[in-house]
Amino acid sequence: MRIHSVFQAAQCLVEGQVVALPTETVYGLAADGYNAAAMEKIYIFKGRPKNNPLILHYRDIGHVQQDVVWTPWANILADAFWPGPLTLVLSRCPHGRVPDVATAGQETVAVRVPAHPLFQKVLHLMQGPLAAPSANPSGELSPTRPEHVERWFSGFVLDGGACAHGLESTILDARKENIELLRHGAISQEAIKNVLLTHGKGHLTLKEAYMPHKDKNASLMPGQLEGHYAPKKPLRLNAKTLFEGEGLLAFGRPLPGADICIQLSENEDLVEAARHLFHGLYLLDNDVRCQSIAVMPFPLEGLGLAIMDRLTRASIGSARRAVD
Ligand code: TXA
Ligand code: MG
Repeated sequence: MRIHSVFQAAQCLVEGQVVALPTETVYGLAADGYNAAAMEKIYIFKGRPKNNPLILHYRDIGHVQQDVVWTPWANILADAFWPGPLTLVLSRCPHGRVPDVATAGQETVAVRVPAHPLFQKVLHLMQGPLAAPSANPSGELSPTRPEHVERWFSGFVLDGGACAHGLESTILDARKENIELLRHGAISQEAIKNVLLTHGKGHLTLKEAYMPHKDKNASLMPGQLEGHYAPKKPLRLNAKTLFEGEGLLAFGRPLPGADICIQLSENEDLVEAARHLFHGLYLLDNDVRCQSIAVMPFPLEGLGLAIMDRLTRASIGSARRAVD
């Protein structure tokens, strides 16, 4: 059910309930980050594997520092990008208050300071952090509008309209000077590299970006397993022509013969395309006039990498669903 009051949202969260909240990236399914029983509910609602840890959202750096082992590189990155769509993986502080359920028992914890004004208002009404994974059933499309959440979640959804970025936060492992990019997201790797270069510190190692994950360390990042973000319909990447029964997700001038077409960005603007990506997928997935989805190619630079990362996983996830 849609609500408009941050006080009502905070009240429910303090009582240990789960509430969907808007962030600048996607909608999150939030619970009190110091309340283990409340966070258990997130896993149940989402059908999320128990070994997939949650991101904790804090109101400011000072509050983050109480729960993690802070590093000089975390400082540089937080200064540059917080509040905003960057998540840092850091070591858990031995004296911190983060329950095991948030971190799936790992020694690390994923933290971020979100920029969305409504999320910030709710955080200011709470004492501690809010755990919030994306507010979708595990493995399905990420929600960027309240109606996407309402399709499956019957609890409270705080209405913040459409999310500004439309892609999840970029995740960095910032424990060591050799910083590892764990998930492409709303901040491009170029922007991160620029900041690190300016400070002459740190070095960014990239994981495979848009290619299917063949990661030996997958247990560090269970949410990044190959199939994810999947529509119900089959999804075909890098389409140069259209087949019968396909709806088109267009980037730039649509392919000839596209009767059913959702335009992500007419001017081939990657920021605009990212903002519309998941909504476009929702629209085609629920359009009875098409049986499958074809997606035009994206340049593999800037946010194009994050977009292709999501789409590749979506196509794997939908193919896997078809054989299940
Ligand atoms: O933009 C976002 O990050 C959104 C909004 C709601 O903040 N949240 C989000 O959460 O995308 P979720 O749960 O859908 O994705 C979090 C990812 C998962 O892939 C999870 O495996 C990874 O972060 N993660 C969480 N804790 C981790 C840790 N300690 N080490 C490595 N990866 C971690
Ligand atoms: Mg997610």
